[in-house]
Amino acid sequence: MSRKAIKSLLIIMLIGLISVFGFGCGNEQAAPSENETEKPTYTVAFEATFPPFESKDAETGEFVGFDIDLIRAIGEEEGFDVQLMEMGFDGIVAAVQTGNVDLGVSGITIREDRLESVDFSTPYYHSALSIVVRTDNDTIKGVEDLKGKRIAVQIGTTGADYAKKIEGAKVTEYDAVTDCFLELKNGGADAIVNDNPVNLNYIKGNEQDYKIVGDTLESEYYGIAVKKGNKELLDKINSGLQKLKDNGKFAELYKKWFEVDPPEYLPGEENA
Ligand code: ARG
Repeated sequence: MSRKAIKSLLIIMLIGLISVFGFGCGNEQAAPSENETEKPTYTVAFEATFPPFESKDAETGEFVGFDIDLIRAIGEEEGFDVQLMEMGFDGIVAAVQTGNVDLGVSGITIREDRLESVDFSTPYYHSALSIVVRTDNDTIKGVEDLKGKRIAVQIGTTGADYAKKIEGAKVTEYDAVTDCFLELKNGGADAIVNDNPVNLNYIKGNEQDYKIVGDTLESEYYGIAVKKGNKELLDKINSGLQKLKDNGKFAELYKKWFEVDPPEYLPGEENA
């Protein structure tokens, strides 16, 4: 090999070395390690005055509840992270519909009209509406006594829709369920129509102020909302939910938040 050939070979090797090291040094953020590659983060919309499904822990300021635990657990099964995004309940379906958020997990009742805007997972909770009045109220004993009464509801909910159909009722819509209860306590409303498990949660420890009257109204199922046609995400949610039901973690979370076992026939599976 001629001196010239050796020299050019050396130069080529040198360039090679520099580019390898140069690349290594300049690229400070190392390539993601195997297990963090492509783990997506999905944004989750919810309204947080709805315990035990979602609320803000007064001490820690963290969002807590069955829904929060459930979507995180589904993410663990299916390999995604969640980013929580609190918003008004009446904006959630629209936010999912437009793709502003990936998921709506907020005790959302699966309903025909909502199915026109978003898709829903298989049901994960069997719910119902109920009526709350002040403990000292002896005149409202059930839905038939709500005619012409002042009813407090959360805006955009099935409870709001139900109340508006009651003859002569004066319905006031509040952003937060907490405000419905305040208003009832202060005498600004005669009753609240809202989801029964949430009513029970608010009343617990406040029995001197509030009570539930009459039968539960309307049977409802909660589902997780996904943008219409996003089959990939919907499949992930349903598959994660199924895995949690099969491996007992769903029952564990259910027991943690509702202090009872989930129904033997899980919500929506009554006909299965
Ligand atoms: N289930 C009712 C509905 O879908 C009320 C849900 C309210 N949820 C909430 N996180 N505030 O209309």
